Amino acid sequence: MIQRSILVTTLLTAALTGPAQTPTLREAFKDDFLIGMAINTRQIEEKDPAAARLIQQQFSAVTPENIMKAEIIHPGWDVYNFDLADKLVAYAQKNNIKVNAHNLIWHSQLPGYVHRINNADSLRTWFTNHITTIASRYDGKVYSWDVVNEALNEDGTLRNSVFLQKLGPDYLIEAFRLAQKAAPHTKLYYNDYNIEQPKKRAGAIALIKKIQAAGVRVDGVGIQGHWRANNVPMADIEASIREFSALGIEVMFTELDLGVLPNPWDNTTADVGQTAANRAGMNPYPGGLPDSVADIQAKAYADLFRLFLKYKGKVTRITFWGLDDGMSWLNDWPIRGRTNYPLLFDRNYQPKKAYFNVIATKQQP
Ligand code: G3I
Repeated sequence: MIQRSILVTTLLTAALTGPAQTPTLREAFKDDFLIGMAINTRQIEEKDPAAARLIQQQFSAVTPENIMKAEIIHPGWDVYNFDLADKLVAYAQKNNIKVNAHNLIWHSQLPGYVHRINNADSLRTWFTNHITTIASRYDGKVYSWDVVNEALNEDGTLRNSVFLQKLGPDYLIEAFRLAQKAAPHTKLYYNDYNIEQPKKRAGAIALIKKIQAAGVRVDGVGIQGHWRANNVPMADIEASIREFSALGIEVMFTELDLGVLPNPWDNTTADVGQTAANRAGMNPYPGGLPDSVADIQAKAYADLFRLFLKYKGKVTRITFWGLDDGMSWLNDWPIRGRTNYPLLFDRNYQPKKAYFNVIATKQQP
C-alpha cells in the first residue's frame, strides 16, 4: 500500500514536471495568458519546499493574499512595513514570476487608525501618502496594481465606504491619478467580485468610462471569480469579457475558486464582512471530495478555460485564489471550520481531476 502510494506520487510528480507528459499550467497557457495564484506569507518565505516547488513549476504570476493590504503594509500614520512585500518582489524576480500587487484602496482590512480619522482633509492626506509611497516604491518591481478593490454595491452604485463618505465619488479617479503618477511603469487595474453580473457590471463600466474620460489611465479590470462549481454564470462571464474589452482594457479573472459547499444564503457574495453560523448539513465532505462532485467541478473549470481561450488576447491573466484546497479562505468563509475543495491542487499538493481537465482544454480545445 505504501509502495503504491509512493508510486502514485512519483507518477503524478513526473506528470507535472516531465517534459514529455502533462505540461504545467504556466507552460500550457504560456501563449495565452498569465496563470497566477494568491500567495501567502509561508509561501513567500519558502517555508514549505513542496509548496515552493509547485508554485515555481505551475505559475507565472502571484498576487499577495494579504501582505500588501493597508492593515499590514501601512500599520501607523507614518509607519510602513515593507519587509514581506520586499521579500515577495525578490522571490518573484528569482523565480521569473510577475507580481500583481493587491491592493491600494479597499474599505476592508484598513488599519484601525484610518477608521478613527474623522476629517476629510486628513483622510485625503492619508490616501495621497498611502498610494504615493507604496506605488512609487514598487514601480517597475511589480507588474501591476489592483488600485481600487470592491468599490461597488451589487446594484452598481458606489459602496458607502469611508472613502466615498469623506472624499466623495471622485476618489476613484483620484486613486488612479495618484497611482499613475507614482507608478508610471506599472499596469493599473480595478478589481471586484460579481462584476460579471449585469447591474454591477454596468456600474463597473460606468466607473471605468469615468476614469478614462478624466484622462486617467486604467489598464484593466479584474473579475474576481469566487463562484460555485455547480453554478458558474457562463453567459454573464462571456458578456463581461466582451463588454469590458470593448473599453480597450485587459480583462482578468483574478481570484478564481469554485467552491463545492452549500451556500447559507440565496445570493452569491464574496464580501468578507458577511459571515454565517454553522448548522447541520453545511459541511458535507469532511473526509474527502466525492467523485461525483469532483466531476462537476472538473467540468466547470474546463468550461471556463475553454471560454478564456476563446477570448485569449482580451483575457490576459487567470489567478487562482490560493495554491491548494487546504489553504483556501473558503474553508473559513462564510462559515468557519468547513472542509472545502475549490482549487486545482488537493491538500497534499496533488493535481485534481479539475487540473487535468484544465490542461486538456489546451490539448484538445
Ligand atoms: O494576521 C492575523 C493574525 O495575526 C491573527 O492571528 C489571525 C487570527 O485570525 O488573523 C490574521 O489575519 C487574517 C488574515 O486573513 C491573514 O491570515 C484575518 O483574520 C482574515 O480575515 C484574513 O482573511 C483574508 C481576507 O481577504 C480579508 O483580508 C483572506 O486570507 C484572504 O483570502 C481574503 O482575500 C480577499 C481579497 O483580498 C479580496 N477579494 C475577496 C477575497 C476573499 O475574501
